[in-house]
Amino acid sequence: MTTLNEPLRLSNGSVLPNRIAKAAMEELLAVPGQLPGDALLTLYRRLAAGGAGLLITGHVMIDRRAVAQPGDVVLEHDTPLEPFRRWAEAGQSAGGQIWMQINHPGRVIPKDLTRTTWAPSEVPIDVGGLSGMYPTPRPMTTQDIEETVERFAVTARRAREAGFDGVEIHAAHGYLLSQFLSPLVNRRDDRWGGDLPNRARLLLDVVSAVRERAGRGLAVGVKLNSADFQRGGFDTDDARDVIKMLADAGVDLVELSGGSIESLATAGAPADGRTLAREAYFLTLAEQLLAASPLPLLLTGGIRRRVVAQQVIDSGVAVAGMATALAIDPTLPRQWLAGHEAQATLPRTRIRNKTLAAAALQAVTSRRLARLGRGKSSKTPYSPAAALLLERLVRARRRRSYLKWHTPA
Ligand SMILES: Cc1cc2nc3c(=O)[nH]c(=O)nc-3n(C[C@H](O)[C@H](O)[C@H](O)COP(=O)(O)O)c2cc1C
Repeated sequence: MTTLNEPLRLSNGSVLPNRIAKAAMEELLAVPGQLPGDALLTLYRRLAAGGAGLLITGHVMIDRRAVAQPGDVVLEHDTPLEPFRRWAEAGQSAGGQIWMQINHPGRVIPKDLTRTTWAPSEVPIDVGGLSGMYPTPRPMTTQDIEETVERFAVTARRAREAGFDGVEIHAAHGYLLSQFLSPLVNRRDDRWGGDLPNRARLLLDVVSAVRERAGRGLAVGVKLNSADFQRGGFDTDDARDVIKMLADAGVDLVELSGGSIESLATAGAPADGRTLAREAYFLTLAEQLLAASPLPLLLTGGIRRRVVAQQVIDSGVAVAGMATALAIDPTLPRQWLAGHEAQATLPRTRIRNKTLAAAALQAVTSRRLARLGRGKSSKTPYSPAAALLLERLVRARRRRSYLKWHTPA
């Protein structure tokens, strides 16, 4: 039986010291210039000390024109690298690995940060009454697509130069690469749309470009939805086929997640009340993918107790990933590896609107990350509704800083 303490050798030759990963959480802590600053360093030193064998950063944007939130970090060809070197060192300070998650949000950019967005096709986001927050995207040209592949490769190469052990390409949760994979959002009839090999072409081109530019030494992971949970959307059969394509392309690890902004099965935001109540809520889907998967899998979603993390590993998943629980208690991995049963208790909210409830619970987690980054305890005095309000206020300040640095064309 594989235990949580067992190291994992990846195909690039590097070794994760144990089977627990901190999954990506958009930290919203960038300092002016969209750079990592002291708060991110403190946060990652504390997460590293917490004992997870792998820390995956919150998504880092590959293009300054396209940030999901104004507090996001951006890494481009001419970004100063020193702050990123310090970030990598903080993440490695206790002997584990740190991977940078790299992302392009595609159509998921709020209107107040951009004048235009692009996506595979002109399909606007449907989040009910909040849909107006996002511009209708324009379809990407071949040139846009090629430029995007190049940007992913440049960001990965620079992450490697800064000392990161790996990158995780974000192809889940309804961002650009996941938009291409989705038959609902991708209505193209050229080589980038239509059947699954065409819809997966952008992701595979990104993987090859990253591999070519950054070399074998860099671990390459991909975060993929086990399903989008939308009728007619990217489903588990598609995920199984894409994992095989990723194995052929030389990926080291696939992280399975699920849902998107239109179908909130993740980010602490259950599609229905029962999803969050279940622990390791993508395990059933993962089990369907495990037998056929030639790659080690990392499973994230709902893990907050040691027995559940062990159950995930027992099912054949290589690494158990956690986001929310580690913002509550970053020391959980260390305690679990020592055999203690510590667990995290998630906050609840009475907010009825699902999108707002999800945003409020996520805001509580963001407040915790900010507190950890200031060297404080993760305990926040705010209710989810108050945390959401506070996040909106802090966001207004960050938005001014972002727009001062980058003026939308
Ligand atoms: C505050 C917050 C920020 C997140 N940011 C990201 C992100 O940048 N990239 C990503 O792939 N997932 C992100 N997620 C999703 C998590 O990685 C994870 O898939 C999800 O929260 C489910 O795992 P959990 O139940 O352990 O929290 C975020 C989640 C939270 C709560």
